[in-house]
Order: sequence, then C-alpha cells, then structure tokens
Amino acid sequence: MDLNKEQKAAVTYDKGPLLVSAGPGSGKTRVIAERVKFLIEKKKLKQTQILCLTFGNAGAEAMRARLEEMKVDTTDLQISTYHSFCNNILRDYSINSAVAAGRIVKRSSFLVWGLENIDSFGFDEWFDLTKISSVSHTAVLIEKLIDGISTFKDELITPEEISQYVNKELAKITANTPIEKEQSIHELDNLVKIYKKYDEYKRKQGVLDFDDLIVLTNELLANPKKEARPKPSSKYIQTHPNRRVPRQQLCTVCIDKKISNKRKCYGSRR
Ligand SMILES: Nc1ncnc2c1ncn2[C@@H]1O[C@H](COP(=O)(O)OP(=O)(O)OP(=O)(O)O)[C@@H](O)[C@H]1O
Ligand SMILES: [Mg+2]
Repeated sequence: MDLNKEQKAAVTYDKGPLLVSAGPGSGKTRVIAERVKFLIEKKKLKQTQILCLTFGNAGAEAMRARLEEMKVDTTDLQISTYHSFCNNILRDYSINSAVAAGRIVKRSSFLVWGLENIDSFGFDEWFDLTKISSVSHTAVLIEKLIDGISTFKDELITPEEISQYVNKELAKITANTPIEKEQSIHELDNLVKIYKKYDEYKRKQGVLDFDDLIVLTNELLANPKKEARPKPSSKYIQTHPNRRVPRQQLCTVCIDKKISNKRKCYGSRR
C-alpha cells in the first residue's frame, strides 16, 4: 500500500511545524504513523525523542496498534492524550494545588452548581428566563453555556478578552443595528457572566476542569521568561486531533533544530 504524493510530502517534511488537514478517511492518521516510522528509521531519532498526542484514549491506543502493525517498536515511544500529557507537565512544573491534589473534574459535574446558582449569575433581560419552563430546559441551557465556555477555552480566550470585545460592540450599537446582531452581543455578554462565575467557583472549590489542564499548560509554555518554561524532552511532536484543531494544540509542536533548519516552535500560540 503506497502513500500518495501529498502523503509522502507530509511524511518526509522537515522544515518546521506542519498542519495536515484532509477529509474524513483520507489517510491523516496513516500519515502520522508513517511519519513516526520515517523519523525512527530514516532520521534515526530515538523513540523517546518523539511524542504523539491524540484526543482520546481510544485514539492513543489506535495509534500504538497501527504503529505495531507497521512493525515499529513502540516500547519507549510516548503516546498520550493531550490531557494526560498536560496533566504530567503541570504536575512537574506547576504550583497549582488542584493539579497537585489531582482535583480535576468533568464539566458535567458543574450542572448542579449552575442550576442552584442561576439567579446569581446576573443575567439581564436579554437572557429570557421565561423561555425556560422546566428544570430540564434549564439544565440543557446550563449545559450549553458550559459547553460555550469550553469552546472559548479551547481557543484560549479569557473572560476578560470576551468582555473587552462585548463592550466595544455594545458601544457601536445604534438604532440601525439589526436586532439579531444586538441579541447575539447581549447573549455573549451573558455568557461571559457565567464564565467568570464558573472560574471563580472552581477556584474557590480548588478544582479544575479538563480544559483548564490545556489552558494552564499553555500558560506555562508561553511564559515570556524562557528559563521558567518546561524544557521539551521530545524533538518531534505529532499531534492528532480528531474533533477540531484548537489553537493551543499547535503550541506544543516542537521541532528538532538540527533537522528543521534551526526553526524551533514551542511555547507560542502560533
Ligand atoms: N495511500 C493509501 N493507499 C491505500 N490505503 C490508504 C492510503 N492511505 C490511507 N489508507 C487507508 O485508508 C483507511 C483510512 O485511513 P486513515 O485512518 O489514516 O484516515 P483518516 O484520515 O485518519 O480517517 P479519519 O478521518 O476517520 O480519522 C485506512 O485503512 C488506511 O490504511
Ligand atoms: Mg484518523
């Protein structure tokens, strides 16, 4: 089974960070697996110099199985999910007590908190509570809001950044602004209220959600003081998102400077 031209180019590319984007079932995972094989067999990298990151445990297991099928020894190869990789970095480098205590909880655990505290979030009249006639509706709504927060965290967008944007947009509203536009800005304004309360609640409880692992790791990697940043032990990082490509996933790409034309990329957002 031969690789096609584009796959071959991606497997052997060595000029710096590379994003492979292609349709479902088109051979992306195959490219990553072949790339690992190529780095070990042709570029003579040690297994420990390569890190493969996947979204879920199933993805990590599938990657290992695929490499083994291709007769690649994976004994010392680091294949991990983003979250467990980040958790390990934070355990080694962060002073966050929730990380140290392993108090990481699922987003769904915050549903009860949301339901009990909905009246204290400061939602305004644009957030129409009269539309919500039963607990299950409220629960669905809280879930959606918490998912919305997660989407912003995926993109490393803080509540302060959203507030700044909302304030700028609110100031631009005139009598001619379409009502849908005005509604969406106010909805965002309400979302940021719960986002702030959510972060505050987690801080008080001394817990983190899974998104925080990635946000905090990114903060560590992006520390302007180079000496404070974790030292990358891997020279090549193969990231394998299967849902979407959040901005921070690209932060962790780190390339061997000898092979890649002296380009190094880690600890920055892009
Ligand atoms: N060049 C190729 N020639 C023949 N078969 C291929 C080629 N590239 C990939 N395949 C096969 O196509 C199937 C899908 O490949 P792969 O799982 O790598 O795709 P993917 O893009 O990762 O899919 P998904 O979007 O589901 O994650 C696999 O069975 C793989 O072995
Ligand atoms: Mg795949």
